[in-house]
Amino acid sequence: MLKKKIKDCFLNSPYSSTKHDSYFNTYDELFSKYIDKDITFVEIGVLNGGSLFMWKDYFGDKARIIGIDNNINAKYWEKYGFEIFIGNQSDVNFWESFKNNIGKVDIILDDGGHLDYQQAVTLFENIDNINEDGLIVIEDIHSSYMKEFGNPSKFSFTNLVTKLIDKINYRSSHLNKNLNFLKLPICEIRIFESIYAFRINKKKSGISKEVINNGKFFGFKDLRHSNTSISKAQNLIKKISFLKNIPILGSIFKNLYIKYIRDKLYTIYLKREKKKLMRKYFK
Ligand SMILES: C[S@@+](CC[C@H](N)C(=O)[O-])C[C@H]1O[C@@H](n2cnc3c(N)ncnc32)[C@H](O)[C@@H]1O
Repeated sequence: MLKKKIKDCFLNSPYSSTKHDSYFNTYDELFSKYIDKDITFVEIGVLNGGSLFMWKDYFGDKARIIGIDNNINAKYWEKYGFEIFIGNQSDVNFWESFKNNIGKVDIILDDGGHLDYQQAVTLFENIDNINEDGLIVIEDIHSSYMKEFGNPSKFSFTNLVTKLIDKINYRSSHLNKNLNFLKLPICEIRIFESIYAFRINKKKSGISKEVINNGKFFGFKDLRHSNTSISKAQNLIKKISFLKNIPILGSIFKNLYIKYIRDKLYTIYLKREKKKLMRKYFK
């Protein structure tokens, strides 16, 4: 059977909704696996109700569709079987009572006020209320770049997301673990045009413990550093290593060498090379 397309559901909705055309592929990509499943789907931002009908049509009758808006008029849509909650998405207390009332949900889609702190509150206040492997999706991310939303700014939602990327990467066993932000159960951040999707999965968000090997070992030489600045630094280190053999001076050098010179040389060479090779990709 052909899978339903969200754009068809949008076009068939009896009431008005406004969505960017590029979002429909993203919705299909993120949400198609939930079609005909017994899920709870929440959209922040109801307005003229059209998107509620679109979601119901798309996910099917088993889905529980909930709308949140700070406009009391949104209650109008309850008569069509939608659950509507009136509240402010930037209010932590609103989320507390919403969560107590509804319990865990599978997907939250934020199409509300689009201010950075509204997006941040929505993400952080709901992380603990998503069923394992569910999603928090924030849309209209172009607000991170728009004057009307006080951007560009160090405190844009997009800049916050780069911090979250750091948090995910810092789970690596290669990196220092003395950071206090490692416990977030976000296992994946997907970036689409104007949409960020955060997958919440506790199991997949653990700290990675070790590097492991498998199979037969051939012992082939790893050439990852050949022809890079590291190999140049290694050559220089070899050249000056004769200093270690000079009496007295040699042992001082040996200590300094291990502690400072070797690593510093690598860093100086690597940074110089990086600047030269990477600059063009940052344009
Ligand atoms: C862009 S419209 C939503 C449109 C709807 N999802 C659609 O597809 O047409 C934004 C809605 O978010 C609501 N909204 C704005 N700021 C909000 C806030 N802080 N908390 C809750 N709802 C908010 C507005 O009242 C408005 O109905």
